[in-house]
Amino acid sequence: MANQFEDNFHRKFYYLRLSVTDVCNFRCTYCLPDGYQPAERKKPSFLTLDEIKRVTGAFADCGTTKVRITGGEPSLRRDFTDIIGTVASQPGISKVATTTNGYRMAKHVAEWRDAGLTHINVSVDSLDPKMFYQITGENMFHQVMAGIDAAFDAGFEQVKINTVLLKDLNSQELPKFLDWIKTRPIQLRFIELMQTGEMDNLFKNHHVSGVSIRNHLIANGWLLKIRSNNDGPAQVFCHPDYQGEIGLIMPYEKDFCQSCNRLRISANGKLHLCLFGDHGVDLRDLLEADTQRADLIDRIQSGLQQKAVGHFLDDGNTGMTPHLASIGG
Ligand code: GTP
Ligand code: 5AD
Ligand code: SF4
Repeated sequence: MANQFEDNFHRKFYYLRLSVTDVCNFRCTYCLPDGYQPAERKKPSFLTLDEIKRVTGAFADCGTTKVRITGGEPSLRRDFTDIIGTVASQPGISKVATTTNGYRMAKHVAEWRDAGLTHINVSVDSLDPKMFYQITGENMFHQVMAGIDAAFDAGFEQVKINTVLLKDLNSQELPKFLDWIKTRPIQLRFIELMQTGEMDNLFKNHHVSGVSIRNHLIANGWLLKIRSNNDGPAQVFCHPDYQGEIGLIMPYEKDFCQSCNRLRISANGKLHLCLFGDHGVDLRDLLEADTQRADLIDRIQSGLQQKAVGHFLDDGNTGMTPHLASIGG
């Protein structure tokens, strides 16, 4: 193995978030309220299967064991199943995950699993079809629910659900969400709304603090699980009466970045060191041939030395990310 990717703060990066498209077919109020705008696309083409193989191969060489395929909506790629297979076939990659809006799952999730997908996260912002439509701009509630059932049928032991609670929209549904996971092996993650560049007043009007959700959980008997080194950004809570778990993702919490273990590649082949605040290091010219592997690793390693200790976000400073679909969440 080449040297493990490590930054100046001794953080190691075993987890790569690989965006394969920034196109999405949903119009979530907090992400792409007006739908995907093709004009935003900086380059005409997204990483090809060969480029994906080379970039994940380089990361695997340097200690990465988990790749999450993100977007936009990654399953919009016609070669999505092949992408999963390509990533899964890299020596050293033991976890192949995806984050999806769920709309293609009912039909394809079994095929994805056969290709090597090991973990799946699905966005579900409401358990009420009308509110689901209001937040996502799509009438897909029943299809997404059928997709989650299909994932269990296909053999996934756990599915993670991502929910962004928004004041005066879906925040009243917290008890309903808890009820939903009573008898289901779901890790339901409440993601605190993150303010991005194009969000205008949404953050001001609808942000719900993660602390208020945490207080509700603790008051209702939920217990914080002990973290281990390779855990993701979520604080995980369990409850003796519930089969499911709750994850809280609170990016504004002090020390949130301290345990950062992930790097990002955008759909156009740029290395991003953080979800917020960097322009990215272009890797594409080093993804043309297998023989460029050593130079590719060098460029990533030296880019990594620029990784800041944290995102430095607070009210009014949204970083440089216009919306999370642009960089793979
Ligand atoms: P697991 O690997 O299952 O723990 O998933 P994950 O939480 O890393 O992935 P997912 O794509 O489901 O992300 C859930 C939410 O966490 C998204 O909104 C991400 O943008 C957010 N998130 C993930 N990593 C980071 C991070 O490094 N910084 C910030 N601020 N948010 C993150
Ligand atoms: N704040 C919090 N979560 C967001 N997501 C997208 N944009 C935001 C934002 N501004 C979530 C989606 C999806 C996950 C990958 O990121 O709901 O579940
Ligand atoms: Fe699409 Fe995800 Fe953005 Fe919603 S949050 S518009 S599903 S990329």
